[in-house]
Amino acid sequence: DKGEYRHYMLKEIYEQPKVIKATTEGRITDSKVLEQALGTDAANLLENVRHVQIIACGTSYHAGMVARYWIEELAGVPCSVEVASEFRYRKHVIQPDTLFLCISQSGETADTLAALRQAKKAGFRAAMAICNVAGSSLVRESDLVIMTQAGPEIGVASTKAFTTQLTALLMFSLALARHNGLSEEREADIVRAIHQVPGQVNDVLALNSEIEEMSKAFMDKNHSLFLGRGSQYPVAMEGALKLKEISYIHAEAYPAGELKHGPLALVDSEMPVVTVAPNNELVEKLKSNLEEVRARGGELFVFADRAADVKAEAGLHVMQLPSVHEITAPIVYTVPLQLLSYHVAVLKGTDVDQPRNLAKSVTVE
Ligand code: F6R
Repeated sequence: DKGEYRHYMLKEIYEQPKVIKATTEGRITDSKVLEQALGTDAANLLENVRHVQIIACGTSYHAGMVARYWIEELAGVPCSVEVASEFRYRKHVIQPDTLFLCISQSGETADTLAALRQAKKAGFRAAMAICNVAGSSLVRESDLVIMTQAGPEIGVASTKAFTTQLTALLMFSLALARHNGLSEEREADIVRAIHQVPGQVNDVLALNSEIEEMSKAFMDKNHSLFLGRGSQYPVAMEGALKLKEISYIHAEAYPAGELKHGPLALVDSEMPVVTVAPNNELVEKLKSNLEEVRARGGELFVFADRAADVKAEAGLHVMQLPSVHEITAPIVYTVPLQLLSYHVAVLKGTDVDQPRNLAKSVTVE
């Protein structure tokens, strides 16, 4: 039931504060992650993990890409991320004491399951899953499972499944990090930041009409570029995926630093550039990249931390977002990009909940 909402996608975007909170419920205290709540055997399985191999497809793959930053930053454990359809068709080297982590909303994605089964033959320490569907094949075949509490996701374009995957992955990263020397202070600081996420997502949802206004600039465009740095690069990828899936506008994501290595040649007044720029040490560099685009007549749409002090000017549109902790920023910054693509699609009159050629669960290759 869509209730008061025009589309399931919008309803599911708005459910995010609630389902993110539900995903943390019983799994974190005020200051720490309750490891046993991630699985009774979690402590044993996470001890001595020396490498994490993440496998997923589509939006779930983007969640894995964000998690790589967290796992390496917080736990100092090397992490590889690969799309399942690539992993399963190449010869791969699985290092000793590897945790094999599959991320899937449905738990039935054919390529992800095939990758898991193949890796089992090759041998690894343990199979872990982040999944939204209890009793799915992925859940049944994994040793350790963190269920996202997103509830049924009806819209084909994944929204709340992604932000709850990120929430689960961050709790997992903290648990793994504790086995690898993360201080109690740092853990407490990040757990407090996790508690703030639902409220911050609500603050972003309050910008809905401003984002709707912004979406008009995309309606008659055929191409767009999404930029991000660090853990915001996968957020840019996810923003680009959402836009192409439901509005059919070609959208490409680039790490901001790659701009002058090629894509800058494409930028003109017909190619809007969207960038996610949180307030961290990288924001200054991003700003200078953005200058280069503007000099070429490109229009910039910047989602920035209020504190980052990015000022609107001609050709530079700024959407000010709440100040967020650097670690949780990818979760919060995803939401305005979901709303942007939603409104572009509504303006274009496409079938938002059921985009052409796509299925909710890809159970065949
Ligand atoms: C994008 C989308 C797809 C899925 C992908 C994986 O909005 O929904 O890219 O993320 O098909 O599906 P799951 O997570 O069910 O394995």
